[in-house]
Amino acid sequence: MKILVTGGAGYIGSHTVLCLLEQGYDVVVVDNLCNASEESLRRVATITGKAATFIQADIRDTIALDAIFEQQQVSAVIHFAALKAVGESSVIPLSYYENNVAGTVNLLEVMQKHEVKNFIFSSSATVYGEANAVPYKEDMPLGNPSSPYGTSKVMVEKIMMDVVNANPQFRGVSLRYFNPIGAHESGMIGEDPKGIPNNLLPFVAQVAVGKREKLSIFGDDYPTEDGTCERDYLHVMDLAEGHVAALNWLNKEQSFTGFEAFNLGTGNGTSVLAIVNAFEQATKVNIPYQISPRRAGDLPAFWANAEKAKTALGWTAKRDLTTMMEDTWRWQSGNPDGYAE
Ligand code: NAD
Ligand code: WQD
Repeated sequence: MKILVTGGAGYIGSHTVLCLLEQGYDVVVVDNLCNASEESLRRVATITGKAATFIQADIRDTIALDAIFEQQQVSAVIHFAALKAVGESSVIPLSYYENNVAGTVNLLEVMQKHEVKNFIFSSSATVYGEANAVPYKEDMPLGNPSSPYGTSKVMVEKIMMDVVNANPQFRGVSLRYFNPIGAHESGMIGEDPKGIPNNLLPFVAQVAVGKREKLSIFGDDYPTEDGTCERDYLHVMDLAEGHVAALNWLNKEQSFTGFEAFNLGTGNGTSVLAIVNAFEQATKVNIPYQISPRRAGDLPAFWANAEKAKTALGWTAKRDLTTMMEDTWRWQSGNPDGYAE
C-alpha cells in the first residue's frame, strides 16, 4: 500500500515516514524543503534499510501534484506540509493562509480528481482556542485561536467537514497534536529549527550544546503549581506511531466515511520548570535560565483527554519524560548544527 506524505522531510514527517517504512508501507514524500533537508530522508533510509520516494514539489503547485498523483497510485495522504511558526504567522498571515489553507484546498482537489479518499491531517491542540476547559476533548467546539497559524488549522478542519458533506466517499482524520518533542532513539534524525528556536525543547537543547547562552522562561506568575505554563509533551515517535495507528484504523474501518478528530497527547501537563529539571536530570547538563515576561498568546495550561485515540485507535503515548529528554539530547549533541553538517 502506497502512502503520499506531504512535508515528509520535516520533523514529524520524517519520523512518521520511518514508522511507515518499518510497517511495510511504500512511501512517496512531497516536500518543497522550505523548512527541511533531504538529508533527513537519507538518514531514515539508513535506519530502516528502505527508501521513500522523494519528490521536491510544492503542494500549491497543481500541475506538479496532478503529475505525482498520475504517476503514483497512492491510497492515502498524510498531510504535514505547512508553515508552523506561531509568532511569524501574525507577521505574514497571508503566507500562512496561502500555504496552510490554499495549499490544502489544492491538495484536496487533486486528491478528489484522482479519487483518493483517505486523508490524515496534522492538526493541533491550538484548535481548541482559549474558550475550552482542560483537558481538551474532541467533542468540544472549535475555538478561536490567537494566531493566524492556529486559525489556519481550524479553517482546514472546517474545510474537511464541508468536503464530507459534498463528497460522501471522503474519509478524513484530523490528528490534533499536543506538544511533540524528542527524536528517534538512534539520534540520527530530530528537530532542526532554522534560526532561533520558537519552541521550548529545541531552545533548551541549543542552550545545552552551547549555541545559546540561556533560556528565557516566559512568565512564572501563571495560575499553575509553580507559576510556569503547563503543556502536554509527547515523544515524536509516539506521535509518529499515532499516524500509523490512524492509517491502520482507516484500513480496518472500511465502512467509515466522514470526518473524525483524535487528540494525540499523553493526558498529562508538565510545567516549563519541570521540563528544565527533567532535561538537567536526564542529561546531567546545566541549563541557565532567566524569568522573562509572558509571551503573547500563551495559555496557562492545557493537556489532552487522550481516551478517544486509546479506545478507537488502540494508541497511547508510551515513552516517558526521561526518554524524551535523553533522545532530544542524543540528537542535539550528536548533530549540533542539525542536518547542516
Ligand atoms: P516542519 O516544518 O518540520 O515540517 C513541515 C514540512 O512541510 C517541512 O518539511 C516543509 O519543508 C514542508 N512544507 C511547508 N510548506 C510546504 C509546501 N507549500 N509544499 C510542500 N512542502 C511544504 O514541521 P513539523 O513540526 O514536522 O510539523 C508538521 C505538521 O504538524 C505541520 O502541519 C504543523 O503545523 C503540525 N503541527 C506541528 C506541531 C509541532 O509542535 N511541531 C504541533 C501541532 C501540529
Ligand atoms: C511551550 C511552553 C512557552 C520557549 C506551540 C504552538 C502549538 C503547537 C506546539 C503547532 C510555553 C514556554 C517556550 C522559550 C519558554 N505547534 N517557552 N521559553 O506554545 O505550547 O505550542 O507549539 O501546532 O500550536 O502554539 O509550545 O514549545 O512554544 O512553548 O518559556 O524559549 O514553553 O511560554 O509555556 P506551545 P512552545
